Amino acid sequence: MNEAQALKHTFEHTRTYFPSLGNSYKGRPVLFFDNSAGAQVSQFVIDRVTDYYIHRNAQKGTIFTRTAEMQQTIVDARQLAADLVGATDHTEIAFGQNATNFFHLYAHHLGRDLQAGDHIIITEADHHANVNPWMELAERDIHVHLWNVDAQGSLDFDHYEQLLALKPKLVAVGWASNATGTIHDMPRITAMAHRAGALVVADGVQAASHIAMDVKAADVDFAAFSTYKIFGPHMGFGYVNRDRLERLEGWRIQHELERDSYFFEVGSQNHEGIEGFIGSMEYLAQVTKDAEGNGLSLDKTPLANSRPSRHEIAGAMHFAHEYEQQLTDHFLAKLADVEGVVLYGKSAEQADERLPVFSFNIEGIETDTLGHALNDASIEARTGNYLAINLMKRLAEPFGGSALRISLVHYNTVEEIDLFFGIFAQVLTDLKMKVD
Ligand SMILES: Cc1ncc(COP(=O)(O)O)c(C=O)c1O
Repeated sequence: MNEAQALKHTFEHTRTYFPSLGNSYKGRPVLFFDNSAGAQVSQFVIDRVTDYYIHRNAQKGTIFTRTAEMQQTIVDARQLAADLVGATDHTEIAFGQNATNFFHLYAHHLGRDLQAGDHIIITEADHHANVNPWMELAERDIHVHLWNVDAQGSLDFDHYEQLLALKPKLVAVGWASNATGTIHDMPRITAMAHRAGALVVADGVQAASHIAMDVKAADVDFAAFSTYKIFGPHMGFGYVNRDRLERLEGWRIQHELERDSYFFEVGSQNHEGIEGFIGSMEYLAQVTKDAEGNGLSLDKTPLANSRPSRHEIAGAMHFAHEYEQQLTDHFLAKLADVEGVVLYGKSAEQADERLPVFSFNIEGIETDTLGHALNDASIEARTGNYLAINLMKRLAEPFGGSALRISLVHYNTVEEIDLFFGIFAQVLTDLKMKVD
């Protein structure tokens, strides 16, 4: 088996871990192509949640053994999240409701260190989750600047330089776009921000379901992730660089005794979800094992010398990204043959700078009509702006800021893509007949 075959073999096998991928609709297999909105979960997650309810269903703060076990489970889960994203250890991770909530918490707490007249930067490429919380600071006369994208939807670094000359206190930016799938150059963004004296809050939500994240290599200060997009339950977690946290004035005054990320875990947590998250990490560890069993290796990758638990978990995401290039190449080659297609984001020539997330329109056909027709044909794909509101307004202006999005992850296959394009051709023929 060569490397490409070993990747294909490994990731086609992952489907067997996901009971929901066998679902059908109107007698046809469902093509689940809305993974950027949220992924399916494996049997590892289902088993963990069940096990929690049977053995560790408990509340915080009691003397019962069950509580101690539950609390240890949360620490274990934080450590696994640290392994996934490359944090130092569990003290830099906090669980919470979702990523949006983390951005609101960050804006609330970091906002305490901002004064009227200070500058901060948000981007035109971001999901509104990492836009709205910062816009609210404008009410306190903090200047909120929108970092522009170019015609392809990529962040414009000349504009960034101009904004950094204002000596902003903070840059809030996405690691990858949920609309175009473009991967942003986080190490470069962060290095430039730090030189200008700004902290960086990264939205790691989209990138984390496709690539091996490394918050230390990228040197971000704060980040947030959605566990339900990383093959786990509906929750989120935050990463907080401990050294930077301790330097914040507002933090020092208010939280003298509790200088770790757990401060962000306010009130009771979703214990069953956190336990389910452990299942999603067990799944990734299994994928790494499968990949290595098929002859793939992490030796020449940045993960080669990482601690064993990180190697095990993030390794799967490294292999997933490699494999997803096959899906991307295949999808873009097929899409190029579709008449009247308008693709947003990176082209096939720059496929290594994108995720298998494809937003596009077809000239002469309303996006929503297309979405409904595909749904009738058991293809679950999203239409709209996916809350990347500013970006889609800019890119898909002639289509009212809306597009069809096919978002794949590593359990999708080349065969599913072929099936999709067969159905898509028929759907387009039918719709064009109606329009004519
Ligand atoms: C890039 C990006 N950021 C943030 C979010 C919001 O995540 P959550 O639902 O965890 O708040 C999403 C959800 O689609 C997203 O795609």
